[in-house]
Amino acid sequence: MRIIQVKDYPEMSRKAANIIAAQIILKPDAVLGLATGSTPIGTYQNLIDKYNQGELDFSEIRSANLDEYKGLSADNDQSYAYFMATNLFDHVNIKKEHTNIPNGLNENIEEECKRYDSVISTLGGVDLQLLGIGNNGHIGFNEPGDAFQTGTHCVKLTDDTIKANARFFETIDEVPKYAYTMGTGNIMSAKAILLIASGEAKAEAVYKSCFGPVTPEVPASILQLHSNVFIVADEAALSLCRTNNCI
Ligand code: F6R
Repeated sequence: MRIIQVKDYPEMSRKAANIIAAQIILKPDAVLGLATGSTPIGTYQNLIDKYNQGELDFSEIRSANLDEYKGLSADNDQSYAYFMATNLFDHVNIKKEHTNIPNGLNENIEEECKRYDSVISTLGGVDLQLLGIGNNGHIGFNEPGDAFQTGTHCVKLTDDTIKANARFFETIDEVPKYAYTMGTGNIMSAKAILLIASGEAKAEAVYKSCFGPVTPEVPASILQLHSNVFIVADEAALSLCRTNNCI
């Protein structure tokens, strides 16, 4: 794991966007694994800026998102499909047919999970997977549990995650209870992984993921077993790593 320390959220966003931009320049038809949430918004904005400056071409880029709420349609403004459209896809020249997100409206869980796994394998796998991290160490919606799940699956969200995500909804009751997510196996199959983290609330998760035991109780800890992981994290997110003299 390579930990890149930065000062704050804006610097994290610039550095992460530079790494993704390098991938796009090196391989114009790369497959990007993409994440939603608060953390990547600045990264996507930096990518949009680079696109507007004529530095990036997304026309051959393909993408596969980590996850989607079950039960939300792509035009629901809380869906991850909507998030990706408004925070990145609508502002660059990526082709809509090159973008992939689990279908939250598919009620048939087995069918949807198989379909999404086959989408990823038809793409030839992910070249660079962008990840945020939950306060509890989750990646995608792989919540702390007894075992690492390999392929795409449907999860019941933990109370922690529902509470953390409630800020995007009018009331906590509106937060969906289930989501489709890539499994840790899908994530670990990416050729390179870029995890971004900002803020004190992530400090414990970052510390345990990077320096604790590899355990499904801290899903991101499995990244220690991947040979090509970059973590771009700010001072606050790295505060526990620093006080424990790990960095
Ligand atoms: C979103 C995702 C989640 C988030 C995580 C952190 O696609 O996969 O794992 O990355 O919940 O969310 P934020 O960035 O909002 O703190």
